[in-house]
Amino acid sequence: MSDKHVLDRRSIPTIQIHDTPDEVASAAAEQVQRQLKRRADSVFALPTGQTPLSLYAELARRCRDGELSFSEARTFNLDEFVHIPPDSPLSFESYMVHHLFSHIDIDLTKARLPNGNAPDLHAECREYERAIAATGGIDLAIVGIGRNGHLAFNEPGTSFTSRTHVVQLSPTSREAFASEFGGIDRVPKLGITVGLGTILEARRIILLALGPDKAAIIARALQGPITVDVPATILQQHPNVLVILDRSAASRLHLAS
Ligand code: GLP
Repeated sequence: MSDKHVLDRRSIPTIQIHDTPDEVASAAAEQVQRQLKRRADSVFALPTGQTPLSLYAELARRCRDGELSFSEARTFNLDEFVHIPPDSPLSFESYMVHHLFSHIDIDLTKARLPNGNAPDLHAECREYERAIAATGGIDLAIVGIGRNGHLAFNEPGTSFTSRTHVVQLSPTSREAFASEFGGIDRVPKLGITVGLGTILEARRIILLALGPDKAAIIARALQGPITVDVPATILQQHPNVLVILDRSAASRLHLAS
């Protein structure tokens, strides 16, 4: 299924640049709403992190106001820490419940995250892939980007054909969580992530980035050479990517005038 998306040539992603993070959230929410209108039982891949917080708040508002419904939707989160109890406030599961799932009408049995406490983590990864495939595949993957170009927890060097797997988190990625965990030494060393191959199979992908800290990596990801050293460059090989940025995250892109 993925082969038709893995092109040898670059695809030019559509890039939207907005003045404020709220406008980015609203533009992304609009895409989610349209997707749900097209198919109420759409399958989404969802990110965590700071970037999607305002999108999740906007989706919660639209759901509350009856503008959209997740009642038939299915979601798969992109990643989770290994060996953090799911009810710990630091787990991505807690994040999703707190910021999105408890505010929308989703059936929680259809909202999955990788289980970082499964007794056999590799079996969990295989089962997660099987579950995604059983839905017919991801309709819309929403992804953020790490400062080192990671997508989900796919660190630099990850194969573009990778599937859901256990990953050793890089120092850069662990550093980003240091203050939340009370020091880098307390940040888990392992995570589970859907693979780059899994992400590339999504029918549509939306990449969100906010703030000046993301400007350099956004330019490399979208306009630099395609390389496993910058996992997000894989997005240049997908035919249906929408990039939604605020002005500061877009500030180092070379844009046609
Ligand atoms: C984290 C997550 C990614 C996220 C990225 C950016 O490590 N695993 O899924 O997209 O880093 O996070 P933020 O939006 O906080 O910058």
